[in-house]
Amino acid sequence: MVKVGIIGAGYIGEIHAECYKKIKNAELMAIVDVVDEKRIKLAAKYNVKSYSSTDDLLKYEDVECVDICVPSFLHSKIFKKVGEAGKHVFCEKPLALTLDDADEMIDVAKKNKIKAFVGHVLRFFPEYVKAKEIIKKGNLGRPLYGSFNRLFSIPSQDWADNEKYGGGVTLDLQIHDLDIMIWIFGKPNIVKSQGLYDKKTGGFNQVVTTVKFEEGGLGLAETGWAFSKGFPNMMGFRILCEKGVIEWLRRKNLEKNDLIVYKSNGSADVLNVEQIDAFLSECQYFIDCIDKNLEIKQSTFEDGRKALELALAAVKSAKSEK
Ligand SMILES: NC(=O)c1ccc[n+]([C@@H]2O[C@H](COP(=O)([O-])OP(=O)(O)OC[C@H]3O[C@@H](n4cnc5c(N)ncnc54)[C@H](O)[C@@H]3O)[C@@H](O)[C@H]2O)c1
Repeated sequence: MVKVGIIGAGYIGEIHAECYKKIKNAELMAIVDVVDEKRIKLAAKYNVKSYSSTDDLLKYEDVECVDICVPSFLHSKIFKKVGEAGKHVFCEKPLALTLDDADEMIDVAKKNKIKAFVGHVLRFFPEYVKAKEIIKKGNLGRPLYGSFNRLFSIPSQDWADNEKYGGGVTLDLQIHDLDIMIWIFGKPNIVKSQGLYDKKTGGFNQVVTTVKFEEGGLGLAETGWAFSKGFPNMMGFRILCEKGVIEWLRRKNLEKNDLIVYKSNGSADVLNVEQIDAFLSECQYFIDCIDKNLEIKQSTFEDGRKALELALAAVKSAKSEK
């Protein structure tokens, strides 16, 4: 049984707590939050202990791993503590807000020989997994172009749209799709990004980023949280390969959201993709790697750094209009 502590009892901390509850080889031991009301409420729901600091968790609980679910600007600081204490770590995305912090985190993970996973959860969504599998099989030929959408009507949290705390929409939200682009197309080469500026927060709230990859692929990510209230949140992708197109769209007001492969002979295959909970799946993967002492190969800290590097380049491009 792998003993887990969660730091951060907010939106994603609660989702992860529910996942660990369902995972047979995991045992949730304690929850940490600086807001007493939040930690006490979540800990009571799962009948576990709660602490108001990471130091107390490390002092009083014999956990093997820690799941970091705090606002993004705190990831590196909290990671250093738990990493240096030798705990395996699940760190939510973005890995950090600067490359210096990301590099330091990778160093700490290596020095302390811990397993380190970053929560790029799209890599566990069944439709993205299936698309990657189809491309890898090679029946549709090489991927040439991919467009990826993520359009919401409000920022995920009130700190997320602040560059200092969440990195703004590119680092908080678009990074999901930038990570998937790298997963599919390989090493990025040229990035151009433009955005709509939100005068209130001083950051972008609607961003269009194009990425040219070294092996020739072209990606486009359209991301934002500026859509009017009532707009049905949507996410999806369209990947053009040499011999066909893979498309998936999830939208609140759509009854069906099938993964469809349109082939160059004119046929369209609607694929039966097993619906699994991607959050449960990523937590299970992390726990299994610890339990079975396997190397983390999916969504590593190095993957998190690559996605961060691309996201930071996109922000730079949008700001400089270059
Ligand atoms: N993978 C995904 O799909 C996904 C979705 C949402 C959020 N996230 C990421 O998860 C992280 C948290 O996001 P959220 O939406 O849950 O935010 P949130 O604001 O809902 O929760 C964050 C919690 O951390 C607590 N906290 C703040 N400082 C702390 C500290 N020093 N020690 C302990 N607790 C502290 C806050 O009180 C709050 O309860 C962010 O990095 C975000 O980017 C990922």
